[in-house]
Amino acid sequence: MSRPLYPFGYTFSPPSPDARLLGVKLTLPQLQSNPQPLVMVTAYDYPAGRQAQAAGVDVVLVGDSLGNVVLGYDSTAPVTLGDMLHHARAVRRGAPATFMVVDMPFGSYHMGLEMAQKSAVALVQEGGADAVKLEGASPEILEVMRVLSRNGIPVVAHLGLTPQTEIALGGLKVQGRDEASAKLILDQAQAVQDAGAFMVVLEVIPARLARLITDRLHIPTIGIGAGPHCKGQVLVYHDLLGLSDTPKKIAKRYAELGQQSVSALQSYTQEVRSGTFPSKENSFIIKDDVLDKLY
Ligand code: KIV
Repeated sequence: MSRPLYPFGYTFSPPSPDARLLGVKLTLPQLQSNPQPLVMVTAYDYPAGRQAQAAGVDVVLVGDSLGNVVLGYDSTAPVTLGDMLHHARAVRRGAPATFMVVDMPFGSYHMGLEMAQKSAVALVQEGGADAVKLEGASPEILEVMRVLSRNGIPVVAHLGLTPQTEIALGGLKVQGRDEASAKLILDQAQAVQDAGAFMVVLEVIPARLARLITDRLHIPTIGIGAGPHCKGQVLVYHDLLGLSDTPKKIAKRYAELGQQSVSALQSYTQEVRSGTFPSKENSFIIKDDVLDKLY
């Protein structure tokens, strides 16, 4: 089957008619110069991709947080490149006209430049990613960012609370509160920009530090738990829709779909047990003369 070729050589199914109605995907320069705050949300499957696109978000992020929120792990470390590809393809099918960033999972860019390049190419070519996201700013990671961005793979950086290295950070807690760690994050932000990142996610850092970084950089900052001064915001789909178990300070819940799902499932259970479902309206008919022949 022949499929259209997109920039950077990756292929994916053509946009569905309803996607075209919503317009075309923002380009990287458009994202960088967007006058309005940028809106990013995570998505891990086809329906979430469709919903994000229908809501008109600027960017979907296939985050490795899928390890926690949809695969039930207690950290992002077990998530594999195969997992990311599987979920990215589903989101891409649901959101063909939305800029899609895909997380490089733990281990896929920590074992040499060649492996990092292969992982990123796979995410673009097989997963349909428009950009890849990497956590941290060690010299090795900066080198990966340089090589990928020079070779036409757009890179999003991720600083502050970086869940892949949660153990080294001493747990999932606010980063950059004291002078040394605030200075480190500020320097890292400059370094990832210099290494070619076109956008940087700032996770769980003080709002005024995020503001300083946003003012210093020319690439957009996207905050999660980083206050209102970033160029854009990202939230985890399950947190904002009330599908995750614990409400988080960093996430506003815009709905309580988890509770609604449980109560819908309870109603279904109760109706099946009481014989109320399926009713006549949910059933198909067969003509008497056809049925008579079977008796
Ligand atoms: O994996 C993820 O969902 C993320 C966001 C929290 C930014 O990296």
